[in-house]
Amino acid sequence: MALVSTKEMFQKAYEGGYAIGAFNVNNMEIIQGITEAAKEENSPLILQVSAGARKYAKHNYLVKLVEAAILETDLPIALHLDHGDDFEICKACIDGGFTSVMIDGSKHSFEDNIALTKKVVDYAHERGVTVEGELGKLAGIEDDVNVSAEDATYTRPEEVEEFVSRTGVDSLAIAIGTSHGAFKFKPGQKPALRFDILEEIERRLPNFPIVLHGASSVSQEYVNIIQQNGGSLEDAIGIPEDMLRKAAGKAVCKINIDSDLRLAFTAGVREYLTKNPSHFDPRGYLAAGRENIKALVKHKIVNVLGSSGAAK
Ligand code: G3H
Ligand code: 13P
Ligand code: ZN
Repeated sequence: MALVSTKEMFQKAYEGGYAIGAFNVNNMEIIQGITEAAKEENSPLILQVSAGARKYAKHNYLVKLVEAAILETDLPIALHLDHGDDFEICKACIDGGFTSVMIDGSKHSFEDNIALTKKVVDYAHERGVTVEGELGKLAGIEDDVNVSAEDATYTRPEEVEEFVSRTGVDSLAIAIGTSHGAFKFKPGQKPALRFDILEEIERRLPNFPIVLHGASSVSQEYVNIIQQNGGSLEDAIGIPEDMLRKAAGKAVCKINIDSDLRLAFTAGVREYLTKNPSHFDPRGYLAAGRENIKALVKHKIVNVLGSSGAAK
């Protein structure tokens, strides 16, 4: 098996009423935890790399680690650029072996977003690479961009047909109330997603894959472990899993998860070091982080994404 684009994956996910997990990767243990879980569940996967991850681990290390994961698992895996900010980073990833890129023009005007997205699509499609665009603005923190809740805007359904037809994108990220990071709602605020917007978009774009960013659920179990082992994470709150499962049964074919991985990994490391204060072999605590990642991803595949057994 070689790296695959998202095209066939999304088609099957749409028809099958499930979603593909798009998990952010930054190092070997995170890649191993995710792919070992997917192997045991026989699930397709998207491994995604942000600009920050490329800066931290370097492009070639991440590509080679993902290639190694394919050798180990023989799963259909797409390697995706998360939140590409401009044409240059998308081009570098397309030229450098990625099979899918996101061009995030959501901070630009509608016309500028279309022009930028179309430029990336033209370059990517000539090389067999799929492209995700974005309409609407999620709240939260990604890289060094912090969008406040007041500046966040829901996707406007009346814009989606024109955006998709003029750009030629293969999938569309929308804003319906999810947000980046581990603090998605204010204390006392009831988590809610705008399913009415999703359904209207689905009606206007039949058979078209929709993407949800900011879809971590922020498990209280991992928050508690971090707190009990010296961390402080008060008021962390995420998207309820039943809402994500419902979205996966609709047009949502890709669900982005990063903060949950960070919490799981950090909980494993903190717990290990608290229990073994005199250990200083990194393999001990990194393996503990990796085990938590694996358990988390298995849980997501079975209970949230519904993609178990879908790898052919
Ligand atoms: O949406 C953003 C992802 O969580 C990636 O975060 O830019 O800190 O790697 P990062
Ligand atoms: P979370 O912060 O909710 O995990 O979202 C991750 C994401 O959208 C990556 O693009
Ligand atoms: Zn995102």
